[in-house]
Order: sequence, then C-alpha cells, then structure tokens
Amino acid sequence: MRTLALNGSPRKCWNTAQLLESALSGAREAGSQTEMFHLFDYNYKGCISCFGCKRRNSKLCHCYFKDGLSPILEKILQTDILLLGSPIYFGDVTGQMRNLLERLGFITLTYDNPQQKFFPGRIDSAFFYTMNIPATLAKNYGYEALFQRQLLPLQRLGGSSQYYAAYNTLQFDDYSQYRCSYFNAAEKERSRQEDFPKDLEAAYQIGFQLVKERLALAAEEGTESN
Ligand SMILES: Cc1cc2nc3c(=O)[nH]c(=O)nc-3n(C[C@H](O)[C@H](O)[C@H](O)COP(=O)(O)O)c2cc1C
Repeated sequence: MRTLALNGSPRKCWNTAQLLESALSGAREAGSQTEMFHLFDYNYKGCISCFGCKRRNSKLCHCYFKDGLSPILEKILQTDILLLGSPIYFGDVTGQMRNLLERLGFITLTYDNPQQKFFPGRIDSAFFYTMNIPATLAKNYGYEALFQRQLLPLQRLGGSSQYYAAYNTLQFDDYSQYRCSYFNAAEKERSRQEDFPKDLEAAYQIGFQLVKERLALAAEEGTESN
C-alpha cells in the first residue's frame, strides 16, 4: 500500500506541508508506505498541447512530453492513495499545482464519445487547501466551486476523491515585521493555536481512513493493491 503526497506550496514546512505530513502520518499508522514531494523542487511546464496522449495507438495515460514532472507523473499512476496540497493564490491553486493538474488531467481525459476510462487502476485521493481568508468569506467568494473543480481530474483515477480546506492560516511568524494591517495578528495567532491543530487532526484522520478503507477493500476482493 503506497501513499504519495505532493506539496504545491513553495514553502516546505508551512501550513500546506504540515497538513500533508499529518495526513501521511495517519496513512503510515494505518499501514501504508508514504512519500512526499515538493512540486517547487521540480522544473516543469503545464500541458504543451502536443496531443501525444490523444494519438491513435498511443500508450494510455502516458504524457509524451518529457520534463521534470515526468518521474512524478509516473509515481502518481503507481500509487494507491494520492494526497495533493496547495495554498490558494489569487483564488486558485498555485501555478505549480495547476501545471501538474493540467498534465495529469489531460492524460486521463478521453475525447471519445462515449467517454472511456483511460486509467485502469484505482487511486483514492484527497486535496488539501490552505488559505488566508476565513471560512465565511471563502463561502461568500464561491471558493467551494474551486475546491470541487480540482477534484475532476482526480475522479478519473477510479477511486474516491475528497477535499479538506484549512482557513485563516498563519502566513508569517511575526506579523509586526510586515506591512499587513489588513490582518488582525491576534486573530491569526488565535486561529493558529485553536483551529490549526484541528485541521492537522482532520488531515491525520483522512490519511488514516483512506488507507484503512483501501486495505479493507483489498481484503474483501482478495487482491493486492496496485
Ligand atoms: C501570491 C499569494 C497569493 C495569495 N492569494 C490568496 C488568496 O487569493 N486567498 C487566500 O485566502 N489566501 C491567499 N494567499 C495566502 C495563502 O493561501 C496562505 O497563506 C496559505 O496558507 C499559504 O500556504 P503555505 O503556508 O503552505 O505556504 C496568498 C498568498 C500568496 C503568497
């Protein structure tokens, strides 16, 4: 049983990475091997529209454009559980995450009518989002639609998909050092102390449950996971 986490934040130890680490520790506790990659360590583009993956007789679910993302795409297609994490930048996922989703999304999407299932295996997934704004504002801004939309390529991976959003995150260690009067530093600190531990626990439970459910399914079917 393999669980792969991909961090779409440039920061390797902050909110998004911590949520993913917590989910991975839940996954380990439930019996999975785990691995984490930081997408900003890799040099790659989004889909370049070469259509190699759409050619007749092309290998299914294969990206023909080779760059720094190629080994990560291979890893994704071989994992059992996929955990993605991204901060919200200007109302969307980060560019690095977006580029990954374009590549993964296009190799799993068919232009056939009726739609065929390109990916033969099963990958259960969860998407973790972190952001500055509180939950009420996120609701007013329609962020829910954004959270759901990122799940579309994941739904083509044959497993369950879900998301978790952590709001009102701490952005800097010391707010007094930055020009940021828009934010209430005391409220940010309160949220860090009171809300973020709950987010970490929720992430842990998601990692744990995904692995437990997958192991139960494998036992029921009498199959090994891929
Ligand atoms: C360039 C940039 C754009 C951002 N845009 C938004 C935004 O549109 N909405 C929001 O709620 N937070 C926004 N944020 C805040 C981050 O989403 C938030 O601090 C997040 O938790 C950072 O994740 P990290 O700690 O894992 O790096 C932005 C931050 C940066 C650096």
